[in-house]
Amino acid sequence: MDRMFQTWSMGQIELSNRLVRSATVEGLSTEDGRPTQKLIDKLTELAAGGVGMIIAGTAYISPEGQADKTSTGLHGDHVIQPLRRMCRAVQQANGILAAQLLHCGSTAGAQMLGQKEVLFGPSAMVDPVSKLRVEALSRDHVLKIINDYGKAAARAKKAGFNAVQIHAAHGYLINQFLSRSRNHRNDQYGGSVQNRGRLLYQVYEEIRGAVGHDYPVMIKMSAHDGFTGGVMPEEAAETASTLDALGIDAIEVSAGTPEGACAGGWDHIIPAPFTEGSFFEYAALIKDTVQCPVITVEGWRDPLKIERALESIDAVSMSRPFIREPDLVNRWAGGDLSPAKCTSCNTCLDLISESGLGCIFHEKTEKLKKR
Ligand SMILES: Cc1cc2nc3c(=O)[nH]c(=O)nc-3n(C[C@H](O)[C@H](O)[C@H](O)COP(=O)(O)O)c2cc1C
Repeated sequence: MDRMFQTWSMGQIELSNRLVRSATVEGLSTEDGRPTQKLIDKLTELAAGGVGMIIAGTAYISPEGQADKTSTGLHGDHVIQPLRRMCRAVQQANGILAAQLLHCGSTAGAQMLGQKEVLFGPSAMVDPVSKLRVEALSRDHVLKIINDYGKAAARAKKAGFNAVQIHAAHGYLINQFLSRSRNHRNDQYGGSVQNRGRLLYQVYEEIRGAVGHDYPVMIKMSAHDGFTGGVMPEEAAETASTLDALGIDAIEVSAGTPEGACAGGWDHIIPAPFTEGSFFEYAALIKDTVQCPVITVEGWRDPLKIERALESIDAVSMSRPFIREPDLVNRWAGGDLSPAKCTSCNTCLDLISESGLGCIFHEKTEKLKKR
């Protein structure tokens, strides 16, 4: 297991191993975006479990961009102090913590959709997933969103996060701009792949301006939207190549959208049975196009297969396995190389809005241990 436990650099920071916790909405923040003690405890437990970097669940950059009622906010200065407490706790447990910045566009959880008076996206349409009316963003509105990303990134840095990640995947606003199916604009933000990527590049530049060149800025992007007419791998590779030239510090390659699932294609959270590393081919394609580190996500469970993937990719990220086994990396490092126990039953998705992120099997095991 040489590769998994090799150090690597992302921008200016060094990571102790090549296993990453992919962003996972925890549903454990207050309605004004502050982390609860339960969230701090969960992330600290993960850090103690040995994972090389934790990408916290989405943090909304503005109230308009909020996807889930109890996700973390980076939309106002009031969150900086409580988030500082969270970052310190994670770092004291030897963790590296990144914030994931999100504007959801017209994609949001049912609770939030019910509360939003207007939904915005690149173009006016009926949202193919929620069937709700979407209004096109004006140019001034686009500029305000870009500005909000910069301010949110500055708050993340001030709070003590080690890095930020732009969420440009899974059918949210930036992904909607990148996708021909949603973006029918005929201004500088629509048309060619480069034009559809313009919002993303401007968001990146704004964030870079806000946090400086020494601070890691990553992206999570969908290399395939999961249906014909959405983002395709060759387009994603072109976007990745531009970001690489601009100076992005790492690219996490995902795929799938709720729209893909509706169209009979696939979503970004694939249920069992799944193929190990389902989106690896897309990560490999992007790795061939860029210089920066590339992270592959989706369905990684077997350390032997992860080790093989690391022959050609920089890091592997996982979400669901860490919900069931927060100490998974320490288990593998200790020599128990049986695959992650997660069965991808996806019950964790229901728990977020009911009681906050958890795994029914993890809770059962913990109860048994206490007996
Ligand atoms: C409960 C849950 C919450 C998630 N929240 C996020 C999120 O906040 N941001 C994100 O980019 N992806 C999110 N995802 C997707 C995961 O990061 C990951 O891409 C996906 O689950 C596939 O990886 P896995 O097979 O290791 O679970 C979430 C997935 C789950 C199961």
